[in-house]
Amino acid sequence: MSTPHISAEPGDFAADVLLPGDPLRARWIAETLLEGAREVTAVRNMLGYTGRYLGREVSVMGTGMGMPSMTIYATELITHFGCRRLVRVGSCGALQPEIELRSVVVALGACTDSTINRQRFGGFDFAATAHAGLLVAALAAAEAAALPVEVGNVLSSDLFYPPVTGQPLTELYGPAIRMGVLAVEMEAAALYGAAAQHRAEALALCSVSDQLVRGEHLSSDERQEGFRDMVIVALDALQLADGR
Ligand code: HPA
Repeated sequence: MSTPHISAEPGDFAADVLLPGDPLRARWIAETLLEGAREVTAVRNMLGYTGRYLGREVSVMGTGMGMPSMTIYATELITHFGCRRLVRVGSCGALQPEIELRSVVVALGACTDSTINRQRFGGFDFAATAHAGLLVAALAAAEAAALPVEVGNVLSSDLFYPPVTGQPLTELYGPAIRMGVLAVEMEAAALYGAAAQHRAEALALCSVSDQLVRGEHLSSDERQEGFRDMVIVALDALQLADGR
C-alpha cells in the first residue's frame, strides 16, 4: 500500500514516530539510537525507518521543511500507516532573550502566520496544542535526563527570511516577542492541526539553534550535539507515555 509520498506496506511503521525535518537526521537517528532499524520508505529521498528503542518499536521519518510538507507526511502516516503518536524533533530560533542556545523548547502551543489551521477550522482561530499526555511524559523524561527545557508557545512561520529585505527578524516577530512566544520554527502548528483532524497525539520539541534576539547561532556540528540529547528525551517520552 502506497500513498503519493510514502511507499511502504501496512505494518511497516510503528504507532510511535519521531519526525525530524531533515531526512538525513532520520537516518542518523535510526542508525545511532534505534536497534535493528530498517528503511521503510525513500520516496523523494524522504527517508523513513522502523527499529526498536528499549525493546519497543519506533519509527522515524523526515518531514521536510515547512507546514505543507509536514501536513502531507503527518496526514499520510496517521491515515494510512497507523501512526498514533507523532513527535517532531526539530530546531528553532529563540525569541526571548533569556533562552540559551542548545536549550530545548517544548511547544505547549503553536501560533502561526499560516492559514492552514483556519482552513481546517471554518475560519476561526484554532488553538493548536500539544497532546497533554505526551507533553507531561516529555517533561518527566527531560527532568530525568537533567535536560533544561522551556515550555510555552512557539510561532510556526511560513517565512525563514523576512518578507522585506533587510527587515530585522526581531521587528517581523515583534508581536510574538511581546506576547511571550518562546521561539520560531516552521512545522509545529501543522503537526498539531493534522493530529487534531485525524485524532492522533502530537508533540513538538525544538532545540534552540539560533538566538534571534541576541544574534547568536550554532554551527552545524554544535547543532548535532544538542539534537542528540533532545531525541533521547523524545524516545523516553514515547516509552513513558505508552506505560500510562
Ligand atoms: N526561523 C525558523 N525556523 C528556525 C529558525 C529560525 O530562525 N532557526 C531554526 N529553525
